[in-house]
Amino acid sequence: MKKHNIKNSLNLYKKAEKIIPGKTQLISRRSSQFAHGINPIYAKESKGAYFIDVDDNKYLDWMNAVSAIILGHSNDYVDNAVKKQIDKGSIHTVNSSLEIELAELLINEIPSAEMVRYTKGGGDSCTLAVRIARGTTGRDKILFSGYHGWHDWYQAANYLVNPEDGEFPFAGIEPIGVPKVLKGTAMPFIYGDIENLKELIKIHGDEVAAIMLEPMRSEFPESGYLEEVKRLAKENGSLLIFDEVSCGWRMSVGGAQKKLGVTPDITAFAKAMSNGYPMGAVVGSKEAMGPADRMFVSSSYWSDNIGLAASYATIEYLLSNNSEKWFEDYGIELKNKITDVMSASSVDVEITGIPSSPIIQFNNN
Ligand SMILES: Cc1ncc(COP(=O)(O)O)c(C=O)c1O
Repeated sequence: MKKHNIKNSLNLYKKAEKIIPGKTQLISRRSSQFAHGINPIYAKESKGAYFIDVDDNKYLDWMNAVSAIILGHSNDYVDNAVKKQIDKGSIHTVNSSLEIELAELLINEIPSAEMVRYTKGGGDSCTLAVRIARGTTGRDKILFSGYHGWHDWYQAANYLVNPEDGEFPFAGIEPIGVPKVLKGTAMPFIYGDIENLKELIKIHGDEVAAIMLEPMRSEFPESGYLEEVKRLAKENGSLLIFDEVSCGWRMSVGGAQKKLGVTPDITAFAKAMSNGYPMGAVVGSKEAMGPADRMFVSSSYWSDNIGLAASYATIEYLLSNNSEKWFEDYGIELKNKITDVMSASSVDVEITGIPSSPIIQFNNN
């Protein structure tokens, strides 16, 4: 395989080391997450399935901006909607009717959505979902599984584990700066292990505001698992929150919940809902979301017109192209082709996962 020259990337990274603590804004974009010295670190252009790095190398993009891209980079339909919106104003002094139009679209498509609030990203949506769940139930504790962002409510759980164990999202990155008094307010449970969740519910009982998890990512959950999680939440008077920040939109515009047939009280969305423009949403039942009416949840850019227009256009494009079938068919073809190529090579590799979210697994020893 040809080794690309990535001199400019490496030089920029050296500069970043001096002036940007942590080197990048997203941990997943740190070069240490890839193969430092080989992978590109900075890109200058991306279009469709490709990006060009700052050394003029062209790459086929498997990462899709950590799942923020669903229609390919710089999709013309979405970008044109954004360009039109820029000419009409990226943000107004008063509200934009786009806010209502997008909410109606989301309510129409997502089975559990009766009310909608907006945010600007995934961690933001998860945090808002948790705030609303705490406010609605009057309880403080959160039982969660999986990754839900950088905010204090979630990172406080790092105080419960040894970060070096590798049990927590980024081993070695400690919850420095997160108030220690939050220790014990968010507790992780093991996805798929219903006994583990029951045990935590037994311990924390009526202090649990919400049970929060990604319903699935690339593999379907074991039959009956989510139904049982939902039953336990209801029985305990806790709300069920689905984090669909990464799995949303891929199998269906209605979210993974539409395909799985299990509806939560509240769902957090972001990333692919706007094909690369900052946008997030928290949707849920009237019962769960209505009390947010009295809560202090407020931010200037949550309803900026660019995010709203990008999201509306992305969803419109997905629906009008029957993305459910499109991604399923395309994913099967892709998986088959990759399997063919790989089986003709000496590389030990498997392609797993659902067609709309496949995973390439290298079995290197
Ligand atoms: C399931 C899930 N929740 C939350 C987040 C956080 O999203 P963001 O990085 O946009 O804050 C991510 C990001 O990877 C995610 O995959």
